[in-house]
Amino acid sequence: MNTEAKPDGLKTHSSSTMADDANEENSGSLKELLTKAFKESQSITIPDDPHIVPVIDKCSKKQFGDYQCNNVMSLWARLRGNNTEFKSPQDVGEAIGRNLPPCDMIDSHSVAGPGCFVSIRLSNQWIAKSIQKMLTDGIDTWAPKLAVKRVVVDFSSPNIAKEMHVGHLRSTIIGDTIARMLEYSKVDVLRRNHVGDWGTPFGMLIEFLFEKFPNGEASDQAIGELEVFYKASKKRFDKDPPFKERAQQAVVRFQGGEEKYRKPWSQICQISRNEFEKVYQRLGVHLEEKGESFYKPYIPGTLNLLKEKGLIEKSDDADVIFTEGKNRPLIVVKSDGAYNYASTDLAALWYRLNEEKAEWIIYVTDVGQKEHFDMIFSAAKYAGWVPTDGNTYPKISHVGFGHVLGADGKKFRTRLGGVVKLVDLLDEAKKRCTTALLKRGKAAEWTPEELERTAEAIGYGAVKYVDLKNNILTNYKFDYDHMLNDKGDTAVYLLYAHARICSIIRKSGKDIEELKMAGQLILEKDQERDLGLYLLQFPEVVEEACTTLLPNILCKYLYDLSEKFTSFYSVCQVVGSDEEASRLLLCEATAVVMRKCFHLLGITPVYKI
Ligand code: ARG
Repeated sequence: MNTEAKPDGLKTHSSSTMADDANEENSGSLKELLTKAFKESQSITIPDDPHIVPVIDKCSKKQFGDYQCNNVMSLWARLRGNNTEFKSPQDVGEAIGRNLPPCDMIDSHSVAGPGCFVSIRLSNQWIAKSIQKMLTDGIDTWAPKLAVKRVVVDFSSPNIAKEMHVGHLRSTIIGDTIARMLEYSKVDVLRRNHVGDWGTPFGMLIEFLFEKFPNGEASDQAIGELEVFYKASKKRFDKDPPFKERAQQAVVRFQGGEEKYRKPWSQICQISRNEFEKVYQRLGVHLEEKGESFYKPYIPGTLNLLKEKGLIEKSDDADVIFTEGKNRPLIVVKSDGAYNYASTDLAALWYRLNEEKAEWIIYVTDVGQKEHFDMIFSAAKYAGWVPTDGNTYPKISHVGFGHVLGADGKKFRTRLGGVVKLVDLLDEAKKRCTTALLKRGKAAEWTPEELERTAEAIGYGAVKYVDLKNNILTNYKFDYDHMLNDKGDTAVYLLYAHARICSIIRKSGKDIEELKMAGQLILEKDQERDLGLYLLQFPEVVEEACTTLLPNILCKYLYDLSEKFTSFYSVCQVVGSDEEASRLLLCEATAVVMRKCFHLLGITPVYKI
């Protein structure tokens, strides 16, 4: 198998020649197929240098063509003065165009501009055939191929005994989408919930529990709301020095593994878990918990490995690692001998690389933790666990996101200034959607069950979509009115757009499954071709979103797709036209790709509005 390194370090598999693939229509993304075609052509044109990887991009303007090969000037720079038969970059470009392998994918080519770009135009028939093949074989045949096999996505990761806050909601939504995109690309994804189940608050909580229930009679009901319990014990901790001392000793004994602490600890964890589950269940997100406590046995060994490499030093009685460019070191053992967040993360990283054999480990947290991860990653690089270039595998990435603000632009809080409960926030979105649907008279049309499912799909979908569509680093305002608007770049608008396409197909009265087998897609009008070509670009968009870890790329694609559909629909009559069969196939293909986008974004599509 021949693998070509890409600049981002991800590799793309290729096992056959381009001509085979192009005639097989659906194997690989468009960009990948064209890269192969130009590679073949370049190796014929410049046989002495067969390993140059062509640079392929979409054409900036439609009149230039669909895609272009951009590295003619750099080829010319290598060739000139080296006894070459070519007289100018134009010459090189023309030869590359001429030497493109014969295939039914490319309709025509031209060399243009000061950069001598070799632009190509794809054949309409080939675009149509590729879409029809996807319709019969399924959209999974369009999954991008990534060379990475196993990835850990560390996301959500709330802290036991504390309320899950809106930052955890973002991590849950973004992490889930990253996991979904990689899973679609046939990567084995380990969805890790790195819950904080080991920190210092446990000393305080357990000590408080012992005090309230001296005979160990505490039950989940007796502990009641963990938040209230947490606050009460914190109050005691702050006000009562002997209690504080006992709590601090309890941490050491609890972390040392004393049996007495096990039961109350697992009780508290279970209560929290049940709370988190309410959020996950609403969002349809699945995670596998491997909390901080799981890595406890691996900490001493991991730290020894780092010590052997001479990376750990003493500073103010603590064990620390100094990393370049930071004005404070990473503390890995505190002065009282206790392990901390960082020691756990180092052990977890070691475990993921060596025991779980992950090739890429992705951490999704708010950007406030960037420094922590920078230091952990530097330590891993110094230790030789991962390459220093950050591109080759195994790879570690931190996806840091911005804050969610209240509609007033300030910290996101309830009216009374408390932490917003995520369950309430999701329920409110659903409630507002139900109200809107009732106002539109849906109670008369739909079953109560349909009404509820639709309100959930739109409400939760809206919350997810705003989280995903923004540039990941920017802070954004949480504003129901904005996210539930049925116009503009919102989930509501997109879900309606999808439902509208479904209703066009329904109204035609045609059996779409039959059409897929017997009908023929013909792309005649400009808008039909535009939409068709855009559909074909789906695999490369998913690939880019995976390699850059930016879900907003997929959101933008989905929004633009709905715009392209609108342009098509505004000039091309579907139902009752002579081109009905072909246009229905184009509608169906759009709906299929939209549904895949929704799926990757964790949004449930709706079929009726
Ligand atoms: N529990 C942490 C928090 O709430 C997030 C953990 C992220 N993952 C990790 N491996 N450190 O901030």
